[in-house]
Amino acid sequence: MPFGTEGVLISRAEIAARVRDIGVALTAELERDLARGPGSAPGDGSPTPPAGSQHAQHAVMIPVLTGALVFTADLIRQMTVRLAIMPVTVSSYRGAVTAPSNLEFRSDLPTDLAGRHVVVVDDILDTGVTLAALRDRILAQRPASLRIVVLLRKRKRRGAEVVPDHVGFEIPDVFVIGYGLDYDGLERNLPDIVSLSSTGGEAR
Ligand code: IMP
Ligand code: MG
Repeated sequence: MPFGTEGVLISRAEIAARVRDIGVALTAELERDLARGPGSAPGDGSPTPPAGSQHAQHAVMIPVLTGALVFTADLIRQMTVRLAIMPVTVSSYRGAVTAPSNLEFRSDLPTDLAGRHVVVVDDILDTGVTLAALRDRILAQRPASLRIVVLLRKRKRRGAEVVPDHVGFEIPDVFVIGYGLDYDGLERNLPDIVSLSSTGGEAR
């Protein structure tokens, strides 16, 4: 384990069990939605995929890279519904600093989400700035549905109000690494979620 870390906050076994439950629940929700056919956004004239088209038969998952990489890889293998995976890369430029910062969308959001069932997957809901920006951009395309799934949510007051449909774990307002979450780009490959100690975190 890297130095400057406290103990394991959430073990790989706890993560695996929770990810399985979320995958099963999401599958049921999406299968129900897809059975109803493609959505139509009433009155906005946006292009809606015709019923029976390829789009109508699968959901679109948008993982927010890089943090959601590990979570998404595990989550999709607990899901039996047909999925297209269209990652976006969003960078928020910070190490262990949890203050809101400028966002950079480093890959383009798909532009054909109208009428489709969309699931955004992120590693952690902290200030909510990232997910609020992404949510608004997706909703502007009039998807048939939009779900937000986060593995972790910090217990804190948030600047941007985002209400996820699924939350893996509520955690204290501490900086965490592992299972996809990084400190300055590193430690994403730790299999457990570990909290960075206050001394080790900032002074390194
Ligand atoms: P938000 O926009 O403040 O909600 O931040 C979301 C992004 O910040 C996450 O997707 C992470 O990439 C990063 N982040 C926030 N808190 C942590 C943390 O405790 N550890 C690692 N990354 C974090
Ligand atoms: Mg992230």
